[in-house]
Amino acid sequence: MKSIIALTALTLAVFVNQAAASIPSFGLQSAAGIRSGLQDSDFRINPSKGQIINTPGFTVQIANVADFPALGGQDVQSQIVRVLVRAGQPFIPHYHPRGTETLNALAGVFRVSFLSEGLSPRNVTNILHPGDSTVFPQGLPHETVCISKMDCLFLSVFNSADPGLVPVTL
Ligand SMILES: *[C@@H]1O[C@H](CO)[C@@H](O)[C@H](O)[C@H]1NC(C)=O
Repeated sequence: MKSIIALTALTLAVFVNQAAASIPSFGLQSAAGIRSGLQDSDFRINPSKGQIINTPGFTVQIANVADFPALGGQDVQSQIVRVLVRAGQPFIPHYHPRGTETLNALAGVFRVSFLSEGLSPRNVTNILHPGDSTVFPQGLPHETVCISKMDCLFLSVFNSADPGLVPVTL
């Protein structure tokens, strides 16, 4: 009985490995198949090596799936964004139509807020210090303002490889 289970497990393991290796590169690939095509160094993800958007008030560095394919596995699906917000400046209010954001405050002091849903939406506001994190639920308008005398830095991680960004006026 034990050996039958072991054999079944082995057959399954071999099948899964073969499936991973033999899936052609069109359309859907297994998570293991995607990983098997990546180098160890593909899992070192540094947003400052991705797309950079510079404005007078803030600088955004984006690690997305186009530059970091390890973010695109079906079991990963993430985007990582590093944002420097200048002292006293806001980061443009916006929402993400396809993803929830976990913002991690690294430097400076932030006032963060999001509008919950409903006919008279609640404004959920917090002051964040380095080491604090917050979440902006998918689809909800939010704002991040650097209220310290020093520049602010945060790192956000999304639960989607393609969260999207839609600016809003508050
Ligand atoms: C929430 O209220 C604060 C204080 O009035 C305001 O500055 C901020 O823009 C509001 N946030 C949103 C997302 O509307």
